[in-house]
Amino acid sequence: MYFTKYPHKSNFSFTDSYDAKTSTIAVGARQFELGVTEHQGDITHIQVKNAAVWQDNQCLESLELPAVEANHRVKISKDFQINILGKNGKPAFKGRFGVSGQASIFLFEIPEKTQFFGMGEKTFGTLELSGLRTKFWNTDVWGDFHAEHYGRNPTDPPYLSLPYLIAKAGDEYFGFLLHNPHPAFMETPGTDQSRAFNEWQETSSELILGSEGGEPNLWVLWGPSLRELTQKLQKLVGVTPVPPAWSLGYHQSRWGYGGHDDLMELDRQFSEHKLPCDSLWLDLDYMDGYRIFVTDKKMFPKGAAHTAEKLALTKRRIVPILDPGVKFDPGYVVYDDGHLHKMFCLNAEGKEFIGLVWPGETVFPDFTQTKVRSWWSDYVKQFAKSGFGASWLDMNDPSTGPVDPQGMLFNDGKELHAAHHNQYALGMQMASKDGFLKARPDERPFLLSRSGFIGSSKNAAIWTGDNLSNYFYLKITIPTSVNLSLSGIPFNGPDIGGFGGSVSDELMMDWVKANFLFPFFRNHCAKGQRDQEPFSFATPTMSVIRRYIRLRYKLFPYLYNLFVEQELLGDPILRPLMYEYPTIGLEGANDQFLVGKYILQAPFVEEKAKTRSVFLPGDEPWFDAVSGEWVASGSLTVKSDKVSTPLYIRAGAIIPMQAGTPIDNAKELRNVHFHVFLPEAWSGDSSETYVADDGISFAYKDGGRSSAEISFACAEGNLALNFVQKASGFGEINPTFIIHGETKSVRLNGAVVKLSSAKVVLTGKSLKVQIVKPI
Ligand code: GLC
Repeated sequence: MYFTKYPHKSNFSFTDSYDAKTSTIAVGARQFELGVTEHQGDITHIQVKNAAVWQDNQCLESLELPAVEANHRVKISKDFQINILGKNGKPAFKGRFGVSGQASIFLFEIPEKTQFFGMGEKTFGTLELSGLRTKFWNTDVWGDFHAEHYGRNPTDPPYLSLPYLIAKAGDEYFGFLLHNPHPAFMETPGTDQSRAFNEWQETSSELILGSEGGEPNLWVLWGPSLRELTQKLQKLVGVTPVPPAWSLGYHQSRWGYGGHDDLMELDRQFSEHKLPCDSLWLDLDYMDGYRIFVTDKKMFPKGAAHTAEKLALTKRRIVPILDPGVKFDPGYVVYDDGHLHKMFCLNAEGKEFIGLVWPGETVFPDFTQTKVRSWWSDYVKQFAKSGFGASWLDMNDPSTGPVDPQGMLFNDGKELHAAHHNQYALGMQMASKDGFLKARPDERPFLLSRSGFIGSSKNAAIWTGDNLSNYFYLKITIPTSVNLSLSGIPFNGPDIGGFGGSVSDELMMDWVKANFLFPFFRNHCAKGQRDQEPFSFATPTMSVIRRYIRLRYKLFPYLYNLFVEQELLGDPILRPLMYEYPTIGLEGANDQFLVGKYILQAPFVEEKAKTRSVFLPGDEPWFDAVSGEWVASGSLTVKSDKVSTPLYIRAGAIIPMQAGTPIDNAKELRNVHFHVFLPEAWSGDSSETYVADDGISFAYKDGGRSSAEISFACAEGNLALNFVQKASGFGEINPTFIIHGETKSVRLNGAVVKLSSAKVVLTGKSLKVQIVKPI
């Protein structure tokens, strides 16, 4: 299989008839069984079966939703046209189904001016994705593309496959999800700019959604809004359970940290510089000769548990890397055990498949098998008990180095590689999560994974793999992470500062400013590159980096509550502007984003840019967190400066924050400052639910959570605030209100209150505020 070439529609034969009574469709003499089920929320599942052509797809995570009688969103005609109806009841998308051997496509005529988004982790640098031919095949980008190519260009396909497409037609959003681990492909109408040197490089005028094998399995979702669509998708593929609070902090990683001594030195430096940092990451060097699950005794002379105990004093965790590949090394316990119990993938000769990765000759656990996942999880359990509380799952694309992965067969050599390739990482995530839960049943597990598939949202956060320290890679962090967030992976982020190449001071500051509120925030870099820890830069640079790490911790209650909301409702943390402002176009789509509904960032992502344009949506003014002024919505130009970053807050926002300037990892959710943002002489109201829990256990599922309703009404500067605690499973929530804006009078729960003045620093200068405390 070429992972950079795509089947062409002319090589397919299309269905010509449909018999509704027998649910059979025909392509010439071939008959297929059709399954169409309707689910709550205008979600339709279309399956085509023919046991002679396709086996069951054996998806590791199944998608289950209660079925309903009928939504009538999808109607199928006698000649097998799949009509997907819009809100006016008329077909918006008109589809056909075609086969070519084991490959299948759904081909749709689309409404004029349809726009496309989503597609998971694509790195094309734009939020809108028309005019693309693209494949879904998990790659090891640096292993599979030439350095000249990935240096400053999009590489497609990337590490993670999410064959999900969002189509915006008029003001309605539709979603198409191919739930099939075989390689998938899509073609969106338009001109493929990356290849537009000839007319035939224009993509098909129809939308193409296809799979190169496996049972055709298409989910069609209807919004109509982007919010409703995203919530539905997230519920379908699985929400991300609210992660441990520490995983939302700052993470320091580097390929090259060894063991105890390196970690203790980092710990010292973070404390000395009053820099919050929740975890220190270990790359390959902590292992004994790249043997997974075996720690090099020289690195941890007293064992990792001893180091973990020391780091617990400053509330820092160790997160070690785990690759799936097991060194082919008779005598090494993990290899011998896996070999004895037949845990590894086989080749066509019935022998263990060998790839060439870090340890040299390497074998691969077959994560598609339940018994293998259980075997792996027992090793993870021991590993967790040896002092490692979380893990970073790498190379699970799976990377086989220069060896063709197609030779790696699954299920005792009976199933082709392509049938499971895209869900290999998912299997590793599921098994690893089980292992941590076996070791610590009361603790929320945390995993970071490079590759993934539909369903990964339930198991792991995703980082977007190896990038380089340059502005191309900084710039694409925005559309890549936002599209991932819309595609069912809300917990994601890039390597901050760039993995390969040596970062400049300017780039590091710009990178931190641009991504400091991304759901996952880890500074990571490769061996041999310039040091990237904040304190390895000169003091003026370090202070800027530190300001944003501290601001993330200040905003921790807001971020944490966004994750809570995600688990409950399915809303992502990062949102494009159009998520909250449905009537706008693509303004700000590629270099602006929202964090929740209240914070808008428009960071500088162009090298040496002195100014940039910013688009502020809606009709109301926005609070400019740099100057403390209110600015009118619409377009404006802002100037860059070394310290601040363009960050705006919506009128009427209620943003929970920690008090003061955080200088360590403390995460206080009960004594909370609610910042309220009021434009001058503003009339309006607002309300929010706020929750607090222990941030680590599952007690929140069982009543161990406190919640409060915060609301206010403001009429021309007269502010009436209300605070009502609704649940107290985690004790009392003590609110302080911080008012940004002029007020004539303030009442809290009906009573007059005393105000005091203070100053708060967010991104720019120190801002004057009024403090309201219940008497
Ligand atoms: C891969 C990972 C990278 C890691 C390196 C060494 O390139 O993507 O993050 O540092 O392997 O383990």
